[in-house]
Amino acid sequence: MRNHSTDITMSDDDFSKLRAIVHRNTGITIGETRKTMLVSRLRRRLREVDEPSFAAYITRLSKDPGEMQELTDRVTTNETYFYRTPRVWNYFQEVFLPEFHAIGENRRMRVWSAAASTGEEAHTIGAILEQQRLTKPGFDYSVLGTDVSSRVLEVAQKGVYNGRSIARFRKERPELFASHMAGSDADGYKAVPPVRARLKFKLHNLLERLGGTSPFDVVFLRNVLIYFTDEDQETILRHVRDLIRPDGVLFIGESETLNNLSTGFEQVAPIIYRPVTRAGGPCA
Ligand SMILES: C[S@@+](CC[C@H](N)C(=O)[O-])C[C@H]1O[C@@H](n2cnc3c(N)ncnc32)[C@H](O)[C@@H]1O
Repeated sequence: MRNHSTDITMSDDDFSKLRAIVHRNTGITIGETRKTMLVSRLRRRLREVDEPSFAAYITRLSKDPGEMQELTDRVTTNETYFYRTPRVWNYFQEVFLPEFHAIGENRRMRVWSAAASTGEEAHTIGAILEQQRLTKPGFDYSVLGTDVSSRVLEVAQKGVYNGRSIARFRKERPELFASHMAGSDADGYKAVPPVRARLKFKLHNLLERLGGTSPFDVVFLRNVLIYFTDEDQETILRHVRDLIRPDGVLFIGESETLNNLSTGFEQVAPIIYRPVTRAGGPCA
């Protein structure tokens, strides 16, 4: 071991190079005041790969594409939990689902949990839609969770949850939790097999088009837009607009808004958007 990583300092030049590398690869804009955060997140990585300085680590990043994924895993913020922001789920269940059933096309509902992190949102969707499947003959669904960090997707794929991650869901929707999550406090809880069979997780950078998929009825794009510039948010929203059905719905995070962006979506309630139709109004 060549260094005691707590002694390593990051020069302003290293900081601006790392910010540029992160932005180029993920679109995430690290604020100018966030150097301490970046140092604390990367020090341990320098120790693991035995690099003596941030300058040496930057050189390593240019030669080793696998290290870019490690950097992405460390700079992303992955906070999430089941049943986050209940009014989103209320709209989904009380407005969108009845509308979807009323159309009566009997097609499979397709949901995208974009920036899915460790999968709690996708699993919440799974539990709600599994309940529909069991009570509405002919209804079926699939949920795709995507994220730019491979580390969080591994957790999502294992799908074992406990503690704070499930606490709110368990308290506010005990019947859904009991019916569609199985396990114990000691070993953790996993979605039941029919839910797991309908969830898929995939690596994807929101700044790129998501290929190989048909349009979605519902897109959850929550608590991720805050990390991007307005221009990058518009790029992301353009990709989402291309992949959402005209009668679909988009949910964003509680501290986010699309109001100052040009996106092709219209707000129907705070943080809830529908695509604008050619006639000019939301397709509701
Ligand atoms: C705070 S979590 C949000 C999780 C969940 N959507 C929620 O609201 O609870 C933000 C997630 O966005 C992901 N992310 C950041 N930049 C991304 C990008 N360019 N493409 C896809 N995912 C990204 C991060 O890896 C992280 O898991």
